Amino acid sequence: MNKRVPIVIANWKLNGGIDLLCSSVAAFIGKHFSAKIAICPPYIYMRDMLNFLQHSEIIVGTQNVSKYESGAYTGETSAQMIKRAGGGLCLVGHSERRQMFHENDPSCNIKVSRALASNLMPVLCVGENLQQREAGITNDVLFRQLHDGLADVDLTNKEICVAYEPVWAIGTGQAASPEDAQLVHEYIRSELTILFGKEIAERIHILYGGSVNKTNAYELLSQSDIDGLLVGGASLDPEHFMQICLHANTHAENIESSK
Ligand code: PGA
Repeated sequence: MNKRVPIVIANWKLNGGIDLLCSSVAAFIGKHFSAKIAICPPYIYMRDMLNFLQHSEIIVGTQNVSKYESGAYTGETSAQMIKRAGGGLCLVGHSERRQMFHENDPSCNIKVSRALASNLMPVLCVGENLQQREAGITNDVLFRQLHDGLADVDLTNKEICVAYEPVWAIGTGQAASPEDAQLVHEYIRSELTILFGKEIAERIHILYGGSVNKTNAYELLSQSDIDGLLVGGASLDPEHFMQICLHANTHAENIESSK
């Protein structure tokens, strides 16, 4: 059985507002979750969310982070600013940022290092597109994204997550099957073992993302190398997101009781 306590991360993308914020967080206040739950709203709502969630265990994260520390970089927000504001994690290299905002592996590598230096947990997103999948080069794509994105990264006493998000599954309603996703996660862990050694690779959470919903969440989390979920569309419906979190919680409780 998987021994890593599952993490569920909501990625609101460029969606949501105060109404969604209130209804999403209300459901979590005063409740204990054995699974870790995080929400990444647009930056502008981060502060309000942190205020609302003061007495909860929910982690607030961001969807991006600057590769710069400070200076004349209009529109940027640094890892240190996110950390000081109370943020706990940041997504790095989401496929939408790679596709639409020209992010690449070297820039992801800098962002990962900046986040770690500020004790903010980076969640490095990797995944192949449909063309690459059909050409049978999924592992080659992942190899490059992992080795370049995590080059020279030191994880001693640091936490990082990797999110496998096949681009063809994002927002399409066509999630990878649990078995297919498990095979890819296994491959990712083998590369993480080469990069960081077995002990560190075994504690890294590898999340799956791409059309996760309340129907497929439990089965995905049942796979031995799927340690959490990155949820886009379904996280915009608070009741739906809660169902996914409850599935993760069941897994977390099973892990606790098997100890
Ligand atoms: P989706 O998005 O759940 O809407 O497919 C996932 C993501 O892009 O992180």
